Amino acid sequence: MTSVPQVLHLPSPSEATKWCAEQRARRRTVGNVPTMGALHAGHAALIEQSVRENDVTCASIFVNALQFNNPDDLAAYPDTFDDDLKLLYELGCDMVYTGTLAEFFPEADDPFSLKQECPSPAGRGLEGDYRPGHLAGVWMIVERLFRTVGSCRAYFGEKDFQQLQVVTDLAGRMSNSDDLSIEIVPCATVREPDGLALSSRNVRLEPKWRQRAPSIYQGIQQVQCLWNQGERNASNLESAARDILAKNEFVIDYVAVRNADQWTADTPTQLNDSARVLVAVYAGEVRLIDNAALQEAD
Ligand code: PAJ
Repeated sequence: MTSVPQVLHLPSPSEATKWCAEQRARRRTVGNVPTMGALHAGHAALIEQSVRENDVTCASIFVNALQFNNPDDLAAYPDTFDDDLKLLYELGCDMVYTGTLAEFFPEADDPFSLKQECPSPAGRGLEGDYRPGHLAGVWMIVERLFRTVGSCRAYFGEKDFQQLQVVTDLAGRMSNSDDLSIEIVPCATVREPDGLALSSRNVRLEPKWRQRAPSIYQGIQQVQCLWNQGERNASNLESAARDILAKNEFVIDYVAVRNADQWTADTPTQLNDSARVLVAVYAGEVRLIDNAALQEAD
């Protein structure tokens, strides 16, 4: 019987910590790609970039219950573990680790009791309002994932833009206060040919909603178009995407414009070069988010 080659799977954070420390002792740079599994081409792009930029790459697969504000969403979260291992191997990932909430939070009988407000100002507004506790749960687990791996480059998608801002803040604070260096590497959003941002939740879209889903990105592009024509009024920009989404009968959580470098819970009165449009909608039962930069036309 021939054995199928596989990515090294370490089933606990403590084993992962040991493996990562060994890599650094051999003067190898470590790339770190945190995921919740159900891997798709968006995750693959993060792994590929890490493989290119580091001596070794580790990924994690952990569906973090602390960040699910909706129990139905957690229960419906897809699990494709065997396929994920295969894909990670094909991409050249060197190690993937998993764990349990109890292993990540050994100090607590109930890790949920440790939950507080998300400490990052970037957690205010938008996802912070519409998914209470979500970014606080992300902060908690990513802090443990960073501690597990230690000094590394950590790859995160712009697709989850507020999450990216929050983990950048976290990495900055951890790198300042501990003997740790974590460099966050933002990665561009990977889309289907029709513009829909890849997401593990897309497989749950009913055919009718899958058909309409590209209009989320069309709404975003309409805002970019207005921006390039010189429109700088946030509510005019937001209305353009809102109209397209409403025509397609999405239930809108938010369409918002924010300055990424001066995050505020409310819409800023003056938009700057870091401005971004962010969208969250329900396509039937499935909540989808997307965003894009607004740049000067020149
Ligand atoms: P998950 O949704 O599995 O995403 C893992 C990483 O892949 C995140 O950095 C996310 O932004 C990125 N990603 C997802 N879709 C993408 C796309 N279409 N293009 C580019 N990157 C994409 O995000 C999480 O898991 C969790 O919150 C986690 C950070 C692992 C903490 O639990």
